[in-house]
Amino acid sequence: MALDKKISIYNEDCIGGMKKHLRPGSIDIVVTSPPYNIGVKYDVYNDSSPRSEYLEWMWSWGKAVKRVLKDSGSLFLNVGSKPTSPDVPFQVLATLQDDFKLQNVIHWIKSIYIEANGYDQKININVGHYKPINSRRFLNDTHEYIFHLTQTAQVPIDRLALGIPYKDNTNINRWQMGRKMLRCRGNCWFIPYKTIQNRRLDRPHPASFPPQLAENCIKLHGLKKNVTVLDPFMGIGNTGSACLKLGVRFIGFEIDSHYYQTAEKSLKELLNQRQEVDNGA
Ligand SMILES: C[S@@+](CC[C@H](N)C(=O)[O-])C[C@H]1O[C@@H](n2cnc3c(N)ncnc32)[C@H](O)[C@@H]1O
Repeated sequence: MALDKKISIYNEDCIGGMKKHLRPGSIDIVVTSPPYNIGVKYDVYNDSSPRSEYLEWMWSWGKAVKRVLKDSGSLFLNVGSKPTSPDVPFQVLATLQDDFKLQNVIHWIKSIYIEANGYDQKININVGHYKPINSRRFLNDTHEYIFHLTQTAQVPIDRLALGIPYKDNTNINRWQMGRKMLRCRGNCWFIPYKTIQNRRLDRPHPASFPPQLAENCIKLHGLKKNVTVLDPFMGIGNTGSACLKLGVRFIGFEIDSHYYQTAEKSLKELLNQRQEVDNGA
């Protein structure tokens, strides 16, 4: 269903949907988070299938993505795990390496504690949210992976689109990049969930990522006018929200009608807000 000339979303299985709706080589960027096969309680999808079946499905999904992704495209694959299955991200990665090369590994940091060290760090910093684990064996899990996969591992990226100011800029004229007064942020991105009051109302999906995660990935690949972004596992539409903010084309698939409707509602609200701003309301 087209919500706008740049936003199309489908309440369909993504493998069939990609074959049906998307031309070969038509997508610049895929930002997505598939189910992790760790028993998350989705409304429809069963996240507890045997691991071998799950990985076979991921393999077929990778083939379908490869068909639609441009040779110069990027697949940003967010995968997390649970303490008793810490190997899922690596198994998914190994499966997809039949078709893609690993260009960058990014860590999505959800929460971090940085201790005061007495000289440049004056206070303790304790920020972000995570699900606490009560265990004698396992650590609280405060990060997930974002694998940046490409067809060649040679795709140029826009590192300074996420650039951060130099801590000490006295020597930066020596460096080509330094002229912009920014340096590459690196591969650890602190992106906290918003603080919520009511889990049922404020978090209508059990495994969503913040729109900022998708925004970072799109900017890192390179924000050009005619970019088309795909999220085959759209959930409640957070990649779509990022695309609307950045003004790029978005195509999303979601199998669950409840999450699909939530995505449709929030993307329509964002489109209306943008329309009101354009109309000078
Ligand atoms: C980890 S969640 C993605 C959440 C999304 N990133 C967000 O922020 O809302 C995975 C989603 O994939 C959906 N899903 C599972 N199988 C699917 C399929 N075959 N085609 C499309 N969506 C599917 C699930 O219903 C779930 O919403």
